[in-house]
Amino acid sequence: MIRSVVLGTGAYLPARIMTNADFEGLVDTNQQWIVERTGIERRHIAADGELTSDLAVKAGQEAIAEADIAPDSIDLVILATTTPDDTMPSTATKVQHRLGITKGAAFDINAACSGFVYAMSVANSFILSGQAKRVLVIGAETYSRILDWTDRTTCILFGDGAAAIVLEAQEGDRGVLFSGIHSDGQYTGLLATNGGISSTMTAGKMFMAGKEIFRHAVSKMPAAVEEGMAAIGLPLSAIDWLVPHQANMRILRGVAQKLHIGEEKVIATVAHHANTSAASIPLALHVASRDGRIKAGHLIACPALGAGLTWGCTIVRW
Ligand code: COA
Repeated sequence: MIRSVVLGTGAYLPARIMTNADFEGLVDTNQQWIVERTGIERRHIAADGELTSDLAVKAGQEAIAEADIAPDSIDLVILATTTPDDTMPSTATKVQHRLGITKGAAFDINAACSGFVYAMSVANSFILSGQAKRVLVIGAETYSRILDWTDRTTCILFGDGAAAIVLEAQEGDRGVLFSGIHSDGQYTGLLATNGGISSTMTAGKMFMAGKEIFRHAVSKMPAAVEEGMAAIGLPLSAIDWLVPHQANMRILRGVAQKLHIGEEKVIATVAHHANTSAASIPLALHVASRDGRIKAGHLIACPALGAGLTWGCTIVRW
């Protein structure tokens, strides 16, 4: 059976680090509140003029190098982002060109913090249908550009970053085993920007009903994992690593508890990256595969939830 197998990962974080203490002069907050209520200690912020495409290209280059393939053997680039460089063209086409990829197609996906799970679902469908053999999936974000830096309930939560994964069609047991995505537009008002291209002709700034998003996250993410494990016919105990969207340490713990998965099996990078939206899961996968925790053959469940609401889960045998 053909599956979408992970050949390599890459990541890039902007050089500038912003600590919790750096917020104390900006908004009415303090380090202790941020750490206790979110688990976040610091985040990376893109430099002036450093664009989502710049982050994506660096992550993509590293993933292609680790996969040890020629860039031009990639026949599809999917970039998950809510913060594209420009309204058009898609940021994916710029990234495709800068990576030296000349064939196939490239496009962006906007599913906010579920972007990576959505992109994996589309990539997997292209591979299973035979339309692509090698796909570069990238999550890249510069949320610092759409944050309201006067709103203490949101600006402390996010960071900038990018990560990438190369998938290849291969026969065997490894690869993507399940890819489920969902959305429910009745909740658009819970997490959104206060403007956009067609409505205000600006990008808008982000706002969020934090408590309600929290409640949706700790119910829908575990349900998405259960759906996936039931579909592949394995018990929750078969999961080697839970790699959820990195929004808030309390959300990660809540998701793991509902699934009866011990904290030692949860990959958490939120303390150092904060919420990087579509980049957060591939960043965590990259960190844990590089440091040797994630090994070939491990079963990994990656649930996400984001604005829309959108949610879903990718389950992969690494
Ligand atoms: N510093 C200090 N105090 C803050 C604060 C900050 N940065 N942000 C909020 N507060 C205050 C609130 O104003 C409130 O004060 P009040 O009691 O006087 O009204 C108090 O802290 C408690 O706020 P509350 O909203 O109840 O805190 P919380 O424990 O629910 O945590 C979030 C708030 C935003 C951290 C939490 O709801 C959350 O993580 N939600 C999901 C966010 C997320 O990750 N979204 C993206 C998912 S894709």
